[in-house]
Amino acid sequence: MTSPPPSKSSVPVVILGTGRYNPAYVLTNAELERRVDTSDDWITTRTGIKERRIAAAGEHNSDLATKAAAAAMEQAKVKASEVDLIICGTVTGDMPFPATSCLVQENLGAHHATAFDLGAACTGFIYGLEIGKQLLQGGGYKTAVVIGSERISSVVDWTDRNTCVLFGDGAGAAVLRQREGRGGGILVTDTGSDGRFAHILNQPGGGTRTPITAENVHDRLATLKMSGKEVFRQAVGTMSTSCHKAMKRLGITIDDITLVIPHQANIRIIEAVGEKLKAPPEKVFKNVDRYGNSGAATVPMALDEAHREGRFKRGDKILLVAFGAGLTWGCTIIEW
Ligand code: ACO
Repeated sequence: MTSPPPSKSSVPVVILGTGRYNPAYVLTNAELERRVDTSDDWITTRTGIKERRIAAAGEHNSDLATKAAAAAMEQAKVKASEVDLIICGTVTGDMPFPATSCLVQENLGAHHATAFDLGAACTGFIYGLEIGKQLLQGGGYKTAVVIGSERISSVVDWTDRNTCVLFGDGAGAAVLRQREGRGGGILVTDTGSDGRFAHILNQPGGGTRTPITAENVHDRLATLKMSGKEVFRQAVGTMSTSCHKAMKRLGITIDDITLVIPHQANIRIIEAVGEKLKAPPEKVFKNVDRYGNSGAATVPMALDEAHREGRFKRGDKILLVAFGAGLTWGCTIIEW
C-alpha cells in the first residue's frame, strides 16, 4: 500500500528532532572469535560488521528507548507534558505486557500520552512514522514521539555463529508535529507485509504458541532463528521495489533524493539495494560496521547520526527504507 502524496489542504507532519542511544559496551569481532567458531575476516566480508553495542545487565529496552526519546525531545525543544502519543517499534520489549512504550511514558513523565508498541520487526520505525503522521493529521493528537528500540542481545543464541555475529542493541527516536504554513514533512510512505515468509525469520518459542517449559528449555526456542540466504533475497527485492513505488507515487527519481537511509542489516544488502536504485554509494548512509543490526532501531539511529552530521538540510528529500520479520517492509520519503 502506498499512501497518497500530500494534498494542498493537508497540514504537513514534520520531524522536529531526532535522537539515539547506543549502549556503552562494544562487542568486537575479535571477542566473538573467542566465543564461537568465526573470524573477523568472515564477519567483515559477509556482513560489513566490525562491532556492535550490547546493553548492560539491568539496562532494559525501555531504558534505551527512553534515552533516545529524551534526546529527540531535547533537540525538538518539546517538553514531556506536550507529548500526547508514543509509538515504540520493537520486538524485544521488556515484557510481553505491558507495552514498552508505557514504561517509556512513565520514565519520561509524559503522563498525557497514549502509548503503544508496534510489532513490525525491523520495519517498526517506518510503520510508526506513517501511523504517527496519520494520527496527527486525523486523530486530534498534536505531538508524537516515534521510537525504534531493541535489546536483541536478549534473544540472540550466543552459541549460533550463523546469527550471533549480526545483531546489536540500540534505540533511535523522532518527534513529530504538524507544522502550518510550510510544505514538506513526511511526503509518502509505501508499506507491505507477507506472512507466507513468517518462517524465515522468527523467535519460535516464548510466546503463547510454544511457551518455554522445563521440557523444552534446552532447545533454545526463545532465540532468533533465521534462514540467512532467503532473508537476504527477500530483503533486496522488497526494499528496492518499495523505494521505486514510493518515488513513483511522488513523481521523483533517485536524482531528487539527497540521502538514502536503509535498514542496517548487512553491507551487502545495503549495497545491492543501492545498486538497484542506481544510487551512487555516497548517497547511501551506512553505519552497520559500528552497530550491526539493531532491528527497528537501525533506521532512526542512522537518521539521527546523519542529521547531526549535517548530511541533509531543510528542503532536501531523504528516503528511509527497511525490511524485517513478518515479512514486513516499508519506505518513506521525507522533505526535511
Ligand atoms: N563465521 C564463520 N563461518 C560461518 C559463520 C560465521 N559467523 N556463519 C555461517 N558460517 C558458515 C556457514 O556454516 C557456511 O558453512 P558451510 O559452507 O560449511 O555450510 C558458510 O559460512 C557459508 O554460509 P552462508 O549461509 O552461505 O553464508 P552467506 O554468504 O549467505 O552469509 C549471512 C550469511 C551473513 C547470514 C547472509 O545470508 C545474510 O546476511 N543474510 C541476511 C541476514 C539479515 O539481514 N538478517 C536480518 C534481516 S531482518 C532483521 O533485521 C530482523
